[in-house]
Amino acid sequence: MALTIQPTGATLGATITDVDLAALDDATWIEIKDAFNEYALLIFPAQALSARAQLAFAKRFGEIEILNENMPTIALTNKGEDGALLDDDSFRMKLLAGNEGWHTDSSYMPLSAKASVLSAHVVPSSGGHTEWADPRAAYDALDQAMQDRLRDLTAYHSYFYSQAKLGHEVAVGEGYGFFEGEPPLRPLVKVHPETARPALYIGRHAGQIPGMDDDAAEKLLSELMSFTCQPPRTFMHNWAPGDIAVWDNRCVLHRARPYDHREERVMMHTRIKGDPATESALNA
Ligand SMILES: [Fe+2]
Repeated sequence: MALTIQPTGATLGATITDVDLAALDDATWIEIKDAFNEYALLIFPAQALSARAQLAFAKRFGEIEILNENMPTIALTNKGEDGALLDDDSFRMKLLAGNEGWHTDSSYMPLSAKASVLSAHVVPSSGGHTEWADPRAAYDALDQAMQDRLRDLTAYHSYFYSQAKLGHEVAVGEGYGFFEGEPPLRPLVKVHPETARPALYIGRHAGQIPGMDDDAAEKLLSELMSFTCQPPRTFMHNWAPGDIAVWDNRCVLHRARPYDHREERVMMHTRIKGDPATESALNA
């Protein structure tokens, strides 16, 4: 059966049905890859993939970025190792709280991520959605003068910066604060390596802009974020267990939505590495 692609109605995203991702043939994979480049966010309801099948699907997009001690897929959950729900003051929950700010994955690393795969396993009775925004459409909607101005700018992306803004001090080596020294410097307008489509490359980790004072940089970045993260450039998904999504971190922003932490939530996340030729920081 041919797969069915239903665009979301926002400027990004499509829902794909009539496909079994656990038994993906190469011809269907090409269709998915083309849809990925066009829509930048794909949602596949009710796949209920095993950990092995999720990893195999993620590997179609490229090499896996290891986030935690050789585990290719990690749990994003408020449940601790002992099975009890974590306290909001715990380090893990503060990391997760950061995900509620608009961001693109691993932009604070020397090599930013290509794509992210996320599946739902246990969901709260309300909230806990994921929302995505389209910095490609945002760039397109800017006037020519602004586009020209932004194309000449770069920004530093720092995990220390983004967590500090939430009042969470992270030490070097702690959480995702892996390294010391100058944070990764990235272009403010990223040209997609496969589609050549330009997109704003922003998010909560972006703070300073070389050649601009910090207040002016923060103001500009916050204006660009507000402009990007509004309809018709946003799409929100209400997860059901078994759903799986994949998005393109090179041209999509995303955030987690709040939920009642007294309810359990378990999501499984696999991240795909960027291409060193196009996703390396300018100062790496
Ligand atoms: Fe994320």
